[in-house]
Amino acid sequence: MPFDIARTRAAYPALTEGFVHFDGAGGTQTADGVIDAVADAMRSAVGNRSSAFVPGRRSLELVAAARSAVADLLGADPAGVVLGPSATALTYTLARTLGAGWRPGDEVVVSRLDHDANVRPWVQAAEAAGATVRWAEVDRHTGELPAGQYAELVGERTRLVAVTAGSNAIGTVPDVPAIAKTAHAVGALVCVDGVHSVPHGPTDLASLGADVLVTSAYKWSGPHLAAMVADPARWAALRPAKLLPSADAVPERFEYGTPSFPLLAGVAAAVDHLAGLDPDAVGDRRARLRAGLAAAQAHEEALLDRLLAGLAERPAITVYGSPARRCPTVSFRVAGMSPAATQEALGAAGFCLSAGDYYAYEYFQMMGLRDSGGAVRASIYHYNTADEVDRLLAELDVLADGAGTMGR
Ligand SMILES: Cc1ncc(COP(=O)(O)O)c(C=O)c1O
Repeated sequence: MPFDIARTRAAYPALTEGFVHFDGAGGTQTADGVIDAVADAMRSAVGNRSSAFVPGRRSLELVAAARSAVADLLGADPAGVVLGPSATALTYTLARTLGAGWRPGDEVVVSRLDHDANVRPWVQAAEAAGATVRWAEVDRHTGELPAGQYAELVGERTRLVAVTAGSNAIGTVPDVPAIAKTAHAVGALVCVDGVHSVPHGPTDLASLGADVLVTSAYKWSGPHLAAMVADPARWAALRPAKLLPSADAVPERFEYGTPSFPLLAGVAAAVDHLAGLDPDAVGDRRARLRAGLAAAQAHEEALLDRLLAGLAERPAITVYGSPARRCPTVSFRVAGMSPAATQEALGAAGFCLSAGDYYAYEYFQMMGLRDSGGAVRASIYHYNTADEVDRLLAELDVLADGAGTMGR
């Protein structure tokens, strides 16, 4: 059954404002169910976590429900779901914790495809420990992150391999299972950034080969909260810096301060929203998530093909990378226009797109594009339509004509 785009769009109140959102990678619009869940939690009596009184029990339940929802989304154990304010904050927590155990001569492997949130925390932790950083390189023409290079990059001193499951800049989906296999052969830990990949298809922690997987709910219709998942036994073996009286149990040990209980209600509601994307799906929530995200993925891939074909027909547009497997995310430039000027002109016409390096710092640096403004990013999400893709292409024609005649 075809993806019901009208039904899907109706679940996002913000879409009635009429903007064309091609910036899911920067943050999606919020689903109705999420807004209701957050508001309901805020309207209810909620106390700090305690089993002694009803409002305290509600908070305990909200935390448990968020863990179980994220676990269903990623194929993880709810007891291994660490919740936190952002992917960046969680990765820093883990990097500091792991880094405290690294010694001079130990090695960590990061990639030039990754968002800086899965690069800098590891580089800085390595520097603090006197460990060596090794870099996995991106093919500058295809935008691929070849998995074969990891055989050379890892060795018996490799402690960690950090890699993305989907580039937020050019969409590349690396062969993470192959990279993980190479890393595991030398006993290294594999930390996978799923922030950009998770919104665009079914995810399974075990099939990825990830020891740790990070995701952010605001990239999949939810609130600004994130999660970092692993086997609870892995968390139990680690000792993050923490307050003395705070819970030492796993996964609470890694969670700093009092969480936003209403936003956690929103996390669970966002997962329920994704699980409802295919109205005909049956089974438990994990099964419905697989079906819903697979349906959304097929819809997004059709839009991506349409966008890529349209961009390829336009000589004034340069697209960066042509990876074989990709998230529906494209970086490009319009000839004669800076990315910021393109973004601004598109913004004036009602199109919301990012411009710059979107924190994919190493990729744009390697491409020599960072200092001249990076690129413009069209990032498709399941509420986008074929008509929006066509309108974006038409608007780019207008800009390219203007840039050509005015010599901008
Ligand atoms: C691929 C990727 N990783 C990590 C992050 C950082 O996420 P957060 O804003 O939750 O720290 C982003 C944010 O754009 C991202 O796109």
